Amino acid sequence: MAENQSESLVRYALVDCDPGVDDALALAIGFASPFFRYDAVTTVHGNVSARLAYRNARRLVAFLRDHLESPIPDVPVYPGAALALDGSRLNRSESRMIHGPEGMGAMFDNKKRLRRLGRGSSKPAWEVIVEQAARRGSALTIITLGPLTNLALALRRAPGAFSRVKRIVVMGGAARMPGNVTPAAEFNIYCDPLAAKEVFSSGLPVTMVGLDVTRRALWRVEELEGGGSFRAALRDLIRVYARFSKKRRGADDITLHDPLALAVAMKPDLVETIPCRVDVDASRGVARGMTLVDLRENRGARVKNPVDVALGLDLKGFLAFFISHLRKYRGWDEDGK
Ligand code: BDR
Ligand code: CA
Repeated sequence: MAENQSESLVRYALVDCDPGVDDALALAIGFASPFFRYDAVTTVHGNVSARLAYRNARRLVAFLRDHLESPIPDVPVYPGAALALDGSRLNRSESRMIHGPEGMGAMFDNKKRLRRLGRGSSKPAWEVIVEQAARRGSALTIITLGPLTNLALALRRAPGAFSRVKRIVVMGGAARMPGNVTPAAEFNIYCDPLAAKEVFSSGLPVTMVGLDVTRRALWRVEELEGGGSFRAALRDLIRVYARFSKKRRGADDITLHDPLALAVAMKPDLVETIPCRVDVDASRGVARGMTLVDLRENRGARVKNPVDVALGLDLKGFLAFFISHLRKYRGWDEDGK
């Protein structure tokens, strides 16, 4: 009885991602916290091809688990969609400049960091998402850090499986800000606007953690100086991204888009949200991928199927939360300490 009771208090998470430098940092802080038990990591096209996203995630899961001070159970990784729902594929030349040619900066150029490949599977991501939603119900939070293709496919196949899911936290979109891939669109939504449109209009409890807050989540790269082997690995992870930021914005920092979404899933009060209707331009025109967030006054309370859109950020609180979780890895400080 006591065991069942404590089991019923467990919070589970499923992370859908396209690693990706900031996806990797998001998984790092997620695994370092006892807040969620991780059922699965599912992977999707986006920063890299679906094939590379799957491989990178398996490498990452193994690497992170090897370095955690408090071990966590193995987290299986599943392969996902290779194309957007409308069959389109993005030109990834800018992604390569941010995330490196294979998505993980220079982290896995060092072969010593590739000792193991985490557990994989041939089961498609959408199927795992449906299974876990049905199995965990109100104990499950789904966090998406890439294009929403896998989740939209899962919703199309089995919408009823999601009726009890606690929350879906989406990194993507922009309400009051210009986009980061076109003037209208944020990257994850641009990669698959139709999928985003279906998720945002699903009526499920969705939080949109978009550029309005993530663009402010800047992390100074000097904080990675010194330390031990884990910190050195993160330096290699962010090296290409930091060079890109320096060139583009003249800044010695990187933007923690995905880590902020993962942190919000664990600690929702890091952001202030308002309920709004969110539509997405799924055309092939100039506004493709734009999230049209209805911010007109007094709409929130009456709106059907609102999305909780993050507009305010506790930046200091987030950065403290982020660093405190990275400190939980062996090799953040000098090795052997
Ligand atoms: C999003 O796009 C990707 O490049 C990042 O990993 C993040 O998920 C930010 O727009
Ligand atoms: Ca991502």
